[in-house]
Amino acid sequence: MEGKTILTGIRVNSEMQLGNFLGALLPMTRLANKYSKNNQINIFIPDLHTIISDVDGELQKNLVKEIKYYLAAGLEINENVHIYRQSYVPAHSELCWILNCVATMGETSRMIQYKEKSHNGDLGTNVGIFDYPILMAADILLYDADYIPVGEDQFQHLELTRNIAERFNNKYGETFVLPAKTIDQAKFMESANGSDSFGKTTDKASGIRIRDLQNPEKKMSKSAESENSKIMMNDDPAKVSKKIMSAQTDSLGKIAFDFFNQPGISNLLQIEALVTNTPIQDVISTWAGETHYGDLKKKVASSVSTYLEEFQKKVAEISDEEVYKILEEGEKYANEVANKKLFAVQKAMKLR
Ligand code: TYM
Repeated sequence: MEGKTILTGIRVNSEMQLGNFLGALLPMTRLANKYSKNNQINIFIPDLHTIISDVDGELQKNLVKEIKYYLAAGLEINENVHIYRQSYVPAHSELCWILNCVATMGETSRMIQYKEKSHNGDLGTNVGIFDYPILMAADILLYDADYIPVGEDQFQHLELTRNIAERFNNKYGETFVLPAKTIDQAKFMESANGSDSFGKTTDKASGIRIRDLQNPEKKMSKSAESENSKIMMNDDPAKVSKKIMSAQTDSLGKIAFDFFNQPGISNLLQIEALVTNTPIQDVISTWAGETHYGDLKKKVASSVSTYLEEFQKKVAEISDEEVYKILEEGEKYANEVANKKLFAVQKAMKLR
């Protein structure tokens, strides 16, 4: 693969939970290392998306920490890897406004995340929550991005992005590159973890969704009330082991990868695969036929706490200066690319 752009963003409010890390940051890092020789890698901090909810005054500190997380996860920096803050590239907001005039109220109000976050359209909701996916479309379309490593909950936003881009192209002429369809996004994500099904035809591929440890029907989320539901990246590794040992499972007495009937067990298998960088199929075969859930929990607890211990050590060794230097270079590059695209959009619409 060459000449493609791989792009993602992760919001930075307070501490990161394991779902963001395993669903987006780690696959992005692995994909970047695998493909950055001949492709562009764009990693940005969506700080404008972050302010849809109150920021706790620590936004700058948190975004520096997030970039350290990429580095500690093993991201190798070279001239094709670009890291930047969304608000430092004003073309994102400008294109968002233009796309607001292309997207419809109907398609935007169908977004599940909007419905959840606005409690089904409560009128006290800020407009940013409604407009969130349109800014996300701008983040993607400004850079002609092809692959967008995100968790499954964001796939609907990627589909919306494709629809908006297609509508724009039909109306004003070929301007935007459409990001890959979500089925291909999922296959591409799989290729991050060694199971290189990318390019093969399978319609089974779906995105990653790390589950709440206590309610495995739900995705892991920072806002879960119980501390035992979620793992934070700065958690004490010993505490993490306890959380995993207390994870909810089921009473079926077999270890199988079946999110529908065994979401708790499947979640543990999924976490094990991602943390140990092992294809999920291999993890599934290792545990096939086993019946003791305690053994699986012990193994996953040990894998995650060992990973976190090393990870946290690496984070502590990275300086703020290193991060700001990377941002300075990334923002120079991003402004050049984004302004060029914005100008092409404005020309196509006869704004220029
Ligand atoms: P955010 O910050 O809400 O989520 C960041 C990423 O983490 C993934 N994620 C999960 N993945 C698996 N299991 C979970 N439990 C879990 N929880 C969160 C999300 O799917 C996401 O990939 N809107 C984006 C940020 C963004 C963006 C973009 C991404 C803004 N513009 C352009 C890509 C391209 C978001 O969801 O952030």
